[in-house]
Amino acid sequence: MIDIRLPDDSVLNQDDFLIGCATASYQIEGAAQEGGREPSIWDEFCRKPGAILDGGNGDVACDHVHRMDADLDLIRELGFQAYRFSLAWPRLIRPDGSLNPEGAAVYNRLVDGLLARGIQPLATLYHWDLPQRLQETGGWQARDTAYRFAEYADQATRLLGDRIDWWATLNEPWCSAFLGHDLGIHAPGIKDRAAAFVVAHHLLLGHGLAMAVIRETVEGARAGIVLNPELAVPETGSDEDHHAARIVEMERNELFLDPLFGRPVPEALLASGAGDIPARPEDAEIIAAPMDFIGFNYYTRSTVAAAPGKPGYKFIKKPGVPRTDIGWEVYPDGLRIVLDRLSEGWPLPPVYITENGAAYNDPGDPPDVDDTARQEYIASHLAALDAAVRDGVDVRGWFCWSLMDNFEWAEGYSQRFGIVRVDYETQQRTPRGSARMLQRFLAAERV
Ligand code: FCB
Repeated sequence: MIDIRLPDDSVLNQDDFLIGCATASYQIEGAAQEGGREPSIWDEFCRKPGAILDGGNGDVACDHVHRMDADLDLIRELGFQAYRFSLAWPRLIRPDGSLNPEGAAVYNRLVDGLLARGIQPLATLYHWDLPQRLQETGGWQARDTAYRFAEYADQATRLLGDRIDWWATLNEPWCSAFLGHDLGIHAPGIKDRAAAFVVAHHLLLGHGLAMAVIRETVEGARAGIVLNPELAVPETGSDEDHHAARIVEMERNELFLDPLFGRPVPEALLASGAGDIPARPEDAEIIAAPMDFIGFNYYTRSTVAAAPGKPGYKFIKKPGVPRTDIGWEVYPDGLRIVLDRLSEGWPLPPVYITENGAAYNDPGDPPDVDDTARQEYIASHLAALDAAVRDGVDVRGWFCWSLMDNFEWAEGYSQRFGIVRVDYETQQRTPRGSARMLQRFLAAERV
C-alpha cells in the first residue's frame, strides 16, 4: 500500500487546495444516438477503418449518461472536492443553434447532482467533439466556427451559469490543431501542417470570443483555458538538437501562450514550415482576454532530435527510462520544471493541474486492481507539484486523469487511465488502489 507523502507544511494538504478528478464527454458518456445528440467529428472519425487501434468508438463508452447517479456517488465516496467534465456541443445544441432540451436535461442532472453532493464543478466547453455538420462547413479551418463556438458558449452558460461559475473554454487546443490536422491521428484526420496553424488561430479566437460571453453571462465567473505544455529535451548537446527541441516547445507552448498574453507568435516557429496565421487586426485583443485561471495537463516529457526538412524535428524513444503502458516516459520532476518555466515566461493567473495520470493496463486475469505503478505515479507527481509550489508557482489544485477507464481516442479502449476500473462488458466500476490512496489522502484532516 502506497500513501501520498507530502511534508506537513505542504500547501497540497490545505483544504483550499482543490483535489479533483476529470473526464471528458466523448470518452465516457455513451448514449451517442440518444436524446437528440447529433454526430460529432469523433463519431465520424471512429468509422474510418484503421483510425482507432481496436476499432472502438464512443457509442457506449462508460455508459455514463445512464449511470450518472452512481458515478457521482462514487466521486463523492472517494472524497473529491471538484470534478472536471466537458459538455458535448452536439448534445447540447441543435443544428439550428437552439438549445436541445434533452441535452440540457442531461447537464442539469449532472450539475445538480454534483452540487447536491458538495462537489465543485469545472465545466470544459470543448474537449474535441465538434458537431460533424460544422466540419462539413470547414471545421476549425473556417473562421466562422469560432463564432459558432461563442454562440454555443452563450447557450451553455445561460443554461448552467447560475450553478457553475468555473468554466474552461478549450481543452488542449494543440491536440485539436496538430493531432487533428497535422499528424491526422485525431479527428478530423487531416494531414496538412499549414492547416494546423490556421486551426490553432481559430481555436484561440473562439476561446477569446467565449471568454467575453462567459464574463457577460456568468456572475462572478472564473474563466480560462486548458493547455498541454511540453517539456522537450534535446537528445544530444548539439545546437541542432537544441533548436529542434525549441521548435517542439514553441509549437506547443508559445503558439498558444504568446497570443493568450498579447504577444506575437515567434518567427522561428513560423519558419518551421507553418504557413500563415490568418489573423485579423482585431483578433489579438480578443484572444488576449484576461483569464482568471489557467489549466495545465501534464503527463510526460519528450526527447527530440533534429531531422532533415520541415518541421525539422523528430521524437526519439529514449531507451532505459520508465514508461507507462501507453509508452509515455514517467518523469515527475518534469511537472516542476515545466511549471517553473511557464511561470517565468508568462504572467500566469492562478494555475490548476487539470489532468495528470497514467495508463497502466490490467495485469492478470482476473484483473488486479492493486495498481501500485499508478499509485507511485500519482504520489511522485504530487510531490513534484509540492516542489513547484515551493519554487513559487501559484498552483491552486490538481485533477486526476481519469476518474475511470474510458475511450482513449485513437488508442480506443486499449489504454486504461482510470483510478476506477471499468469492466466494459458489465459496466461494473471497481476502485483501484490509486482511488483508495487518494480517498485516504482526502479523508485525512486537511487544514
Ligand atoms: C489528454 C486528453 C485526455 C486524455 C489524456 C490521456 O491529452 O485531454 O482526454 O485522453 O490525454
